[in-house]
Amino acid sequence: MDIKICRGNPINQKTDCLIMGVFEKDFSDPYLKELDTLLEGDLGKIRRSGEFQGKSDEFVILHAAGRHPAQRILLVGLGPRRQVGLAQLRKAAALAAGRLKTLKLANVNCALPLINLQTPPLPSRVGAIAEGLQLASYRFDRYQTGDEAKARGRIGKMSLLIDNPAEKSAAAAALGDSLNLIRGVALARDLVNEPGNIKAPAYLARQARAIADETGMTCQVLDRKEMQDEAMHALLGVAQGSEREPCLIILQYAGAPPGEPPVALIGKGVVFDTGGISLKPAEKMDEMKMDMAGGAAVLGTLLAAALLKIPVNLVGIVPAVENMPSGSAIRPGDILTSMSGQTIEVLNTDAEGRMILADALTYVKRYEPRVTIDLATLTGACIIALGHHATAVLGNDDKLVNALLKAGKSSGERLWQLPLWDDYNEQIKSTVADIKNTGGRPAGTITAAAFLSKFADQATWAHLDIAGTAWQDKPQTYGPAGATGVGVRLLIEFLKQLPESRL
Ligand code: BES
Ligand code: MN
Ligand code: ZN
Repeated sequence: MDIKICRGNPINQKTDCLIMGVFEKDFSDPYLKELDTLLEGDLGKIRRSGEFQGKSDEFVILHAAGRHPAQRILLVGLGPRRQVGLAQLRKAAALAAGRLKTLKLANVNCALPLINLQTPPLPSRVGAIAEGLQLASYRFDRYQTGDEAKARGRIGKMSLLIDNPAEKSAAAAALGDSLNLIRGVALARDLVNEPGNIKAPAYLARQARAIADETGMTCQVLDRKEMQDEAMHALLGVAQGSEREPCLIILQYAGAPPGEPPVALIGKGVVFDTGGISLKPAEKMDEMKMDMAGGAAVLGTLLAAALLKIPVNLVGIVPAVENMPSGSAIRPGDILTSMSGQTIEVLNTDAEGRMILADALTYVKRYEPRVTIDLATLTGACIIALGHHATAVLGNDDKLVNALLKAGKSSGERLWQLPLWDDYNEQIKSTVADIKNTGGRPAGTITAAAFLSKFADQATWAHLDIAGTAWQDKPQTYGPAGATGVGVRLLIEFLKQLPESRL
């Protein structure tokens, strides 16, 4: 979809479809009144019928049948006027794009930026609308070769209508920012949707090098030998059952002067999680190709940050491995010595994420980061606790957790904090090693984070468990079933707000 800003009046433009926003039970907007007149009162009829009142999840398509230069008009509800902000606009835009997804339209005019509001300012409104349109239009169809797939609808040109020429350049800049942000989200989604047969650790490394080449970031990839030299035996232990070589991807983005301590982002990169010798059941095991969604979010965030030129230094680390059962795999009961020197009793080989993150958390210390944030599809328990609607956040610093919670609210990628009290450490004490890799069934998300906290140690650190939010098995407002790209919009928002959060 090609999106641009156009100055124009929605009432007299020729188009395949015109998108108009409607406040709940409020059709007083002058453009809507004009439209109603042209359509001989059809809008009033629809409103009185109760079929469409402008509620925030409603939409309806009207055919103009020659009475208006648009072929069809898509009315989308915005909810009560007083509550309309960026989130409602983003959602209305996404609903509209989702509805049009199956149609083949050469051009669409979107009048959502024109709705009559004092705040937020037009550029941020344009950004939110463009974000919603793009997120909802995403699809992963590179493996669908049939005619049906080729014939599927796509929107050619999308014009965002504005009326004040003085605001055009600011609106275009906001649109450009949202295109860059969504490139990061789409990269994360693509990587997660990619099947396991294609997606070896080396595949992620190639993708990281490609985005580094495009943006001028630096990319370094440690191979098995180099990780052995670093004594990363927790990570290497997880990798040893697979024929595929593990790697540690390190991407660095310099948006601030060289002396400024970086923000470290670490993403779990298990390209496929069979569970290892503690094998997972067959049902839904296919979904475990998404177990590198944390790593994908890190790559997507670094790409977006570089394209957006966010004034911060970043180091992104993705430990990339495959968790396989085989004659060379680790066994339950094995003891691994992590890079930190702490020994880990492996009670369950399916609790592999925390072990690769342990070494990544130790490795990242050499960059002396100001804050460290890890993202991981870490525990099934997180889905039991929060379902698919929120990412769990835990950490050892309230300011950092609060800054993340705030970014969650403004980005729409919601977080919910779980406690990380000392009491939980009891569950991960081992009788034969320093720590064990599972804490039993109670509070599985928390004991996993408690495990990580031993390796984050003195760092200002937060952990995001995205097990429930990285993947959706049904289509959503913001995209089709499959990968969501969660984390990218959250972290970019967090990085933008970093100067005010005083971390
Ligand atoms: N990758 C899984 C967690 C997961 C499960 C993510 C479902 C998304 C959907 C993780 O490696 C895992 O298997 N965790 C175990 C830990 C347990 C053995 C302590 C789990 O949650 O069952
Ligand atoms: Mn696992
Ligand atoms: Zn896993």
